[in-house]
Amino acid sequence: MSRAAIHDDNPASFEAVAQSAARIRAFLPPGAAPSIALVLGSGLGSYADELADAHGIDYAEIGFPRSGVIGHAGRLVYGRAGRTASHPGVEVLLMQGRVHTYEGHSLQTVVLPVRALIAAGCQTVVLTNAAGGVGEGLQAGDLVLIRDHLNLMGDSPLRGPNDPRLGVRFPDMSEVYDAKLRATAQQVAARLQIRMPTGVYAGLLGPQYETPSEVRMLRGLGADLVGMSTVPEAIVARHMGARVLGLSCVSNLAAGMTGQPLSHEEVTETAARVRGTFIRLLDGIMAELASLG
Ligand code: HPA
Repeated sequence: MSRAAIHDDNPASFEAVAQSAARIRAFLPPGAAPSIALVLGSGLGSYADELADAHGIDYAEIGFPRSGVIGHAGRLVYGRAGRTASHPGVEVLLMQGRVHTYEGHSLQTVVLPVRALIAAGCQTVVLTNAAGGVGEGLQAGDLVLIRDHLNLMGDSPLRGPNDPRLGVRFPDMSEVYDAKLRATAQQVAARLQIRMPTGVYAGLLGPQYETPSEVRMLRGLGADLVGMSTVPEAIVARHMGARVLGLSCVSNLAAGMTGQPLSHEEVTETAARVRGTFIRLLDGIMAELASLG
């Protein structure tokens, strides 16, 4: 395959990203300028109901790939998050569901939406997911602030020719998850008295859950969480110079830790159980970001 062919095939090429971003802008109400993109993971999509002045658009209309996984609705929602008596809230673009590479999509396809949202003006990207708990002391239902990640997907969303209009060839990854945003999230969690440990998220290809031996390996590598998303999106966000905040909902303890088999139903059930706490935390973080301006 020639270089040009690889380039043309990239579903997240500069042109494809720009086209998707233009469609997003066309969907926004006049004068809207959302600065935060929020990606909601498995079973966490109902945060969209908390937005003020919300309206949505189907992924198909803005060139976003659609997930076949239960719990991923496939709508982009514009609205105001974190509204309080003293503040109108912060404008956000919220993704209800994402595609995963295990569904057969290339990592370039997986990251197109996040790239397009950044190109449309969202300089802050909040990534959420349901994850398996690997670290000592984690419990199902915990909300964990991601402090770093391990890319164990065996691929990179940046593989292939680099377009300098998107970012540099060799982007720095020494602080993927923004320290100031993490500090803000921790202050909010403390104020709301929500337990929120920090953790390292290992991103694996999936779709099969891990074996107990793999989970022991992950723990040995320093992982606290394991999941099948987030890492590619965080990488391209940093590639484009956006700030990233990552939040995991521990939907289950990882394989071999409880003696119980894992299932996707358990993942979405736990997400539903912690819905209220997750919404309070996210709303608190959004209100704080709104007041920071
Ligand atoms: N492993 C990988 N991905 C996951 C898990 C898990 O245990 N739970 C939710 N997503």
